[in-house]
Amino acid sequence: MSSPELDEILLDLHRFAGTAKTLSALQEFCVNLIAARLPSYNWVGFYMLDPADSAMLVLGPFHGAPTPHVRIPVTEGICGAAVAQGETVIVDDVSADPRYLACSLETRSEIVVPIRVRGKIVGEIDIDSHELRAFGAGDRRFLEQCAEIVSRFIESGPHSA
Ligand code: SME
Repeated sequence: MSSPELDEILLDLHRFAGTAKTLSALQEFCVNLIAARLPSYNWVGFYMLDPADSAMLVLGPFHGAPTPHVRIPVTEGICGAAVAQGETVIVDDVSADPRYLACSLETRSEIVVPIRVRGKIVGEIDIDSHELRAFGAGDRRFLEQCAEIVSRFIESGPHSA
């Protein structure tokens, strides 16, 4: 994926974040924008830590096939691993990773990027691809910048519900 195309997505997301009324509106915009522009990103969604239970991730806005994993303990899955490790996790081949929780039989690779607010992880962006090894250093940089935009939006709150 060319970097001008990724830069344009970041610019659109940044602009929308300047006017979004709620976090959910920004998240909805983000998943729809990314899924529409990047064909190898087949499932795009947010998991946020449950404010009442910081050991549990809860599914937020997403674009793609419905998933049975609406709540994921931080001790499970690639999603849990990104919180536990406190960093982005890339899995080139999900069939070779015992941590993987299946959402769709078509998924071949996955990237999960933490979102931090004032240094603390509050959630993550999760992307699945039907292609093996779909995510490299450029995708990681791009998605970490998306996470940063969401993070700055939350930090600039409170926003209406
Ligand atoms: N694959 C994730 C679960 C979420 S679904 O992909 C949407 C995991 O292993 O944590």
